[in-house]
Formats: sequence, C-alpha cells, structure tokens
Amino acid sequence: MTEDQPTPKTDGGTDSVSSDDVALDPWGSSTIEDYRKLFEQFGIEEFDAEEVPDPHYLMRRGAIFGHREYGRVVEAMADDEPFAALSGFMPTGDPHIGHKLVFDELIWHQEQGGEVYGLIADLEAHSARGMSWDEIDEHARSYLLSLIALGFDVEDGELYRQSDNRVLQDLAFEIGSTTNFSEFEAIYGFGGETNVSHMQSVVTQLADILYPQLDEPMPTVIPVGPDQDPHVRFARDAAARMRYFKVTEAFASFELDDEERALFRELYDALAADDGVDTDDLRCEDAAERLLAFVNDPSTAIDADPATRDSLVEKLENGGKEPIRPRVRFLDRNANEAAFDALIEAIPGEKRRYDAHIDSFDLDPAAAEEIAREVEIEHDGYGFQAPSSIYHRFMTGLTGGKMSSSIPASHISLLDDPEDGYDKVKSAATGGRATAEEQRELGGKPDECPVYELYAYLLAESDDEFAARVYEECAGGERLCGGCKEQAAELMQEFLAEHQEKREEAKEVLDGVDIDLDSDRRGLGGQEEEDAV
Ligand code: TRP
Ligand code: SF4
Repeated sequence: MTEDQPTPKTDGGTDSVSSDDVALDPWGSSTIEDYRKLFEQFGIEEFDAEEVPDPHYLMRRGAIFGHREYGRVVEAMADDEPFAALSGFMPTGDPHIGHKLVFDELIWHQEQGGEVYGLIADLEAHSARGMSWDEIDEHARSYLLSLIALGFDVEDGELYRQSDNRVLQDLAFEIGSTTNFSEFEAIYGFGGETNVSHMQSVVTQLADILYPQLDEPMPTVIPVGPDQDPHVRFARDAAARMRYFKVTEAFASFELDDEERALFRELYDALAADDGVDTDDLRCEDAAERLLAFVNDPSTAIDADPATRDSLVEKLENGGKEPIRPRVRFLDRNANEAAFDALIEAIPGEKRRYDAHIDSFDLDPAAAEEIAREVEIEHDGYGFQAPSSIYHRFMTGLTGGKMSSSIPASHISLLDDPEDGYDKVKSAATGGRATAEEQRELGGKPDECPVYELYAYLLAESDDEFAARVYEECAGGERLCGGCKEQAAELMQEFLAEHQEKREEAKEVLDGVDIDLDSDRRGLGGQEEEDAV
C-alpha cells in the first residue's frame, strides 16, 4: 500500500486512503498496524476512560481506544439529558466474538439511559457483498438473537433493517442530494465501475447515523471499528451541510476565515487584557496596526502563519474606520426566506441584518446555536448535531494473524458448538515462551497474546481484578500457557453454552419485535464478491 493512487478493489472500495498510510477501508480487510497513527492521520481522539462516569470494562481495558467528540454524549449522560447510540451489522455470516464487543457497547449505552438503535445493514450486504436475500434474512435473525441474548432491551430500543425502513430511506435521499460522486471517489475510492446500489447503501449508512436525531436532535454515539470512520466523518460533514444556518463569531461586518478568526480572537483577547487599550474604541485600521506590532513582538507569544497574518491585516485595513465589535453571526446556508425572517424575529437584543447573514450583539454562541436550531426545526429542517463515535480495537485472530470469518480457526462464532469453542482456545497461539522454564524466568507476553485478549475483552467480563491477575501472573512468569489456555477454554465453553441458551429464549422476544425477517424479496443472489461491483 505504498502507491500514490488508491488501488480500486473489486467491490469498489479502496486499499488505502493515501500513500503509505494506515488504511481505513470500510470494505477492506480490517487490520490496523498502528492505532496511534489514526490519531495523527485522521484526527481520531484518544479515548480516556477516566472522563466517563462508571465506564464499561471495554473502556477501562483499552479495547475502546479512540473517539470523535464522545464528550458530548458523556455530558448528556451525566446531566440526564437525552442521548442516543446506534450501530449496524452487515448480515454476511454468523455473529462472532468481535461483534459481541459492539453488542455490549450498545447494551451498555442503553443501560446508561440512552435511546439505542441496532440495525441490519442488508442493503449494504446485498449491494457490496452480493448476499442473496435469503442468506441475509437468516443471518439478520441470528445477529438479532445474539444482541437480545446479551441483554438488548427491545421495549426500550429500536431494531430495524435498512431495506424496509421508509423514513430512513427518505432521509438517505435527502442526504444524497447534498453529496456528489467526487466525494465518493475521494472518500471511498469509488470509480466508474462501482455499482450504483453500493453508492445508495453508503447514503443509507449516513442516514442510519443521523436517524436517531429525526425526532429530536441529540448527542449520538456510533460505536464501530475504526474502518467505519470514513462513514462517520462523512456523516458529520453531511449533518453540518444540511443545517439552515451556521453560527460563527465575527468582529466586524466582513467575514474572516477560520484561521483569521482564531488569530483575531487571540489579538482581541490580548488587547482586552491590556489596560492601555480601550477595545470599545478600537477601529479596524487600528487593529491592523496593533496586529502587525503584536506578531512582530517576540514577547507577545502570538505565533501567526504569515499568510493568515497578511490576509487578516488586509481585511482590517479595508475595514477602515469601522469599529471593532465582537458579535455572533448567523450565516444563511440552506434557509428559505421564511426561516431567515423567523430567525431575525427570534434573536433578542441588538441585531443587524445583511444579505446572507445576521449579526447579533447580545447573544453568546451557545444561545445563538439553540435559537438557530429551533428556527430550523420549526421550518422543516432537521437541526442535526454532529454525531459522535467511539472505536474499538479489532480482536486478534486466535491463530495469531487477523481475525477473519474466512479462517474458522481464527475466530469464535457465537454459534460455535461450545466444545469447538473449547478446542479453538486450546489450540490458540499465545504470547508464551518456547519452554516452561523460559516462561518462568522471563514471563509471558500478555500484550501479544490472543488468549489474554480473550480474557480482557470477553472472559473476565467486568471483573477487573481477575483480568489484572491473569496479566500479572503471565508477565511475572507464574502462569504457564497450558493451564492458562485450559482455564480460558473452559470459560469460553461455558460462555457459549450459556449464550446459546439465551439465544433460544430470545427467539420469543424477537417474534414480538416489529421487524420482517422473511423479506420474500426478488433479486440477484449469492454471486461471488468479485461480481458485486
Ligand atoms: N457498514 C457497517 C459494516 O460494515 C454496517 C453499518 C451500516 C453501520 N450502517 C451503519 C455501522 C451505521 C454503524 C452505523 O458493518
Ligand atoms: Fe497468553 Fe496465558 Fe500464555 Fe500468558 S500464560 S502468554 S496470557 S496463554
């Protein structure tokens, strides 16, 4: 993956977003060599369990490693405000222990009081993976049984499949009119050979991500693997684009770009803190002069990009004698005239109307945001908030490499016979040394051990003390792989047996859910993945 051009894959996906990078490909193979790179290259933020009240064990143990703006959701949770969580599953095979991570994340958010949605990405499975509708129905049922067996409350949450959710498809259609093919090319490496339904399944996923906000905009978290981040970013962008108004900060009648605005804010705060300056008396041309003096003065610590400085100085000079007055600005993005007029009415205090924006002098940005959203919703807009996300690590395959559904020994299906589960763990790769003697002397390497990962992500459940004990005993050389695997294998066997019993009980619950798992649909079916372009 070092070539400059992304390599188109047969399903229209791409191997790599740019050269020499970590790949984030929703339809590619999901191994991530270096999770840290995701922070630098894609702006995913590092997850800190300490910021979450009563965090889930997957958070505490670093299985959830990254996020985008999860703080909004945490805040809502802490303040007892509404929030939502949603994730989706492509019904391409049997649910396995990797999916269990996401099931558990959804269930936890439900327990914390969130509105939780689980969806079957059947349009995606059909168009991007070439699954027949019969196969999809069968797998969909199986995913839902496991989700319910693990504790999803169907009375409290919503389960749906993409293909029969009309409201979702209307939203997808709307989102589709704000996106275009060039973006699909840039984000996913789609090209002329990509099938049109695959593109439709992408706008459907963007709609999934915003769906929880249809009744009321609210903080929403999407728990997924990092391969889904391109969809999350795209959905965040779509949410912003569909807003009627953009609320920004301004200082005079003219517009500044983001960098200029940040630099001006710095200057303004410095001037306001300076007793010798009366900011109420400041005019644009004075500010230009001050700015030049500031950035040239090594003691002020304003470190401006020269291009930003020059363009800002020019704008300020052109502003001449216009007074500097901080204000909140509402930019018209998609508003119709009625909404624009209603916004003016709704703004309290001093305000000024321009062609495509309104300035308000007595509002703080948060209050302004709220007014803009209310007016938008009253005028048939959505008022979406940017969705948040959390990312979990992919589990290592039991055979050492990646966990892959095409290598049965590498993963454990939630439908595996408990004895097969036992056997798979018994023959798993470990982070152990060549001999018992060496292990006692040097200790094992739990950080490189798929069996330790099973303990941490699944078998120890919420018992931190147990997980820590396995880790320490291993690293300290007191634990040997034979006994360690035996213990893990027994726990796995128990887990599978119990889970499968609960799946039986879940059947009745699922029968009571309003979801059609006999789609009786005509269509193309069962072709090889290569054909599904
Ligand atoms: N694309 C996801 C996958 O490959 C499935 C999916 C569809 C999804 N819609 C979603 C995931 C919305 C999270 C949120 O498994
Ligand atoms: Fe892995 Fe257990 Fe062996 Fe440690 S003792 S390397 S955790 S199997």
